[in-house]
Amino acid sequence: MSRQEAEGILKLSSKMESLLKSPQKCARVLKDRITANVFFEASTRTSLSFQTASARLGAKPIVFSNKTSSSAKGESFSDTIRMVDGYADAIVLRHPCEGAAQLASEIARHPVINAGDGANQHPTQALIDLYTIRKLKGKIAGVNVALFGDLLHARAMHSLLFGLLLFKAKVTLVSPKGLSMPPALVREAEMKFKVKIRCATKPDLKNADVLYVCRVQKERYSDKKKAEAAARLFRVDSRLLKSAKKGLAILHPLPKVVEISPEVDLDPRAKYFEQAKNGVPVRMAVLSWCALGKKKAAWRGVSLRFACKNPSCITRAESIAGSAAMGADGVLRCRYCEKPA
Ligand code: NCD
Repeated sequence: MSRQEAEGILKLSSKMESLLKSPQKCARVLKDRITANVFFEASTRTSLSFQTASARLGAKPIVFSNKTSSSAKGESFSDTIRMVDGYADAIVLRHPCEGAAQLASEIARHPVINAGDGANQHPTQALIDLYTIRKLKGKIAGVNVALFGDLLHARAMHSLLFGLLLFKAKVTLVSPKGLSMPPALVREAEMKFKVKIRCATKPDLKNADVLYVCRVQKERYSDKKKAEAAARLFRVDSRLLKSAKKGLAILHPLPKVVEISPEVDLDPRAKYFEQAKNGVPVRMAVLSWCALGKKKAAWRGVSLRFACKNPSCITRAESIAGSAAMGADGVLRCRYCEKPA
């Protein structure tokens, strides 16, 4: 997404937030359209806020769950997408495989919105985060943001890193040993935005304007004991926050489990529930943006057929021949999960 496109969605989100005050006007925007929520992974906020956004705009959301659908009988992902594409005007997709949304967007005639693909990306969460930061701080450029937690697996952090750099925020990646952001992603971001990204193992709260925390993504670990050990490596509590600025904003994509102490909820600097509420206007903007018929960006780059080595890539789950392409940083990567070949 270009800066101009992201800016357009953020502006539209503010308009949607105002429009929410006139429910009848709001309900004319996508009147009689159908949106499909296709979720192969657990979700509370993303699923509910997309359904709310759709209903507020006058569209009717239909909901798929892999537990009660024919996926439980072994239907392939590609077939499921073909079916839903025949029913709905837009597809909101969450899937445990990386690159699932990219593949679905190539199968479907209707727009596909990535609501999280494995440990890869979660772009609409990043838009909510940018919208929230701008609302709280009045700007994004120059704001000091510390991304803190399981940066290795958290897709929300992966998308947010690119979003923040697109808007010229000052980012520090803070993660305990073993949980740092994938180096290929950091390199790509540094080359794309021509910056050197700061990394630390503890947050420097004296200088941070935003502390963005995420949980250990237990479901991405094959060894549950390792996940539990990782969850003990960091925690935000009132003691840690003592050195922080008065104007600090504490954000979290939620769900939070053990990484934020319960007393932090009472700290006026905790803004995560406000952030979650912003999910509705931002997702209303995303849905109506799709309805404007914005064309998908054409695939650019050298396309080569190859077999992706990433075990979590959708091309492995669906046994389809992958295709690789050269990224902006000159690295050959899988067209679907975006991992270096
Ligand atoms: C995030 C996700 O699913 O990646 N949740 C969300 O969409 N708000 C973060 C998480 O699960 O930790």
